[in-house]
Amino acid sequence: MKEIYIKNLKIETPIILAPMAGITNFAYRRLLKEYSCPLVETEMVSDFALFYGNKETINMLKTDESEHPLSVQLFGGSKESLVKGAKVLFSLGGFEILDINLGCPVNKVVKENAGSSWLKNSRQEELYEAIKAVVDISPVPVTCKIRLGWDEESINVVSICKILESAGVSMISIHARTRSMMYSGTPKYEYIKLAKQSVNIPIIANGDIDSLEKAKEVLDITSVDGLMIGRGALGNPNLIRQLVTYFSTGGIIKDSTLIERVEALKKHFLYLEELKGEYKAISEMRGLSSHYLKGFNDTKKYRVKFTTMNSKSQFLDICQEILANLKQ
Ligand SMILES: Cc1cc2nc3c(=O)[nH]c(=O)nc-3n(C[C@H](O)[C@H](O)[C@H](O)COP(=O)(O)O)c2cc1C
Repeated sequence: MKEIYIKNLKIETPIILAPMAGITNFAYRRLLKEYSCPLVETEMVSDFALFYGNKETINMLKTDESEHPLSVQLFGGSKESLVKGAKVLFSLGGFEILDINLGCPVNKVVKENAGSSWLKNSRQEELYEAIKAVVDISPVPVTCKIRLGWDEESINVVSICKILESAGVSMISIHARTRSMMYSGTPKYEYIKLAKQSVNIPIIANGDIDSLEKAKEVLDITSVDGLMIGRGALGNPNLIRQLVTYFSTGGIIKDSTLIERVEALKKHFLYLEELKGEYKAISEMRGLSSHYLKGFNDTKKYRVKFTTMNSKSQFLDICQEILANLKQ
């Protein structure tokens, strides 16, 4: 895999962490950086929330020097609000790429004309104007994250990519599903190949890449410039290291053992505790911990325990129990 340039920002081996609301906060990105992730991205932040100085949203932008380059993702439903939100982000600074969310399928977001609502054929002119307006005032490269289109009947990824390129966007990540597919159904990678052939800016493929084999398959089908990984690395951050190593040197890194997964899980919790305190960290890890046990036999009872834990000491006890049972 060759290096890419996002405008003039060089990314050596473009394996990119997908933005995930509620997950890709500073703590999780910090963990992924330790697994050699070349480019990480924040959770999406709302243009209105930024404009009104929402404290929780501003806190979502926490970063430090260890995780750069950093991409910050903005979502919004109109040119005016996106520009306003982007201006707040630029005044805060601390990131190298501004990514615009044009793919979120969630009703709450789409209802506000944001996320994948931008992919509707009826909005193409408006889309061009909005993205160009953001590009025109941006001191950093602007990228976009999209889907194949609104629904099966209106797959328009090629025309959307052309519009975004002409508006001055420097890279496009494409989730190989339509809005109406939400997160299920087989990704249609062949459309990403068509998009790649239609523009000159880097194209990144996304959707269901959860192993080295799958990554190679998606690259073969699409001939894209890089890959974006979301759920596949959740609970298995070693996947990022495996992909970066293979695509930079051809080297093969073994899958994580359960012991290594539990070590990663503990780090995830500790970083989250540092960021948000024990109470919130435990509450979030109730849902996240079981991802670290995925694929290992006889771990169901621990998953159940994680979902009902109430304190750090309970969390650490469950981790300890998993390790102790392994050694028997
Ligand atoms: C819990 C969750 C939260 C997500 N939040 C965002 C988000 O904030 N912005 C975005 O562009 N995509 C978001 N996505 C979509 C992912 O970035 C990605 O496109 C999708 O999960 C498909 O890739 P994957 O199969 O590698 O996970 C989210 C996905 C999940 C599962």
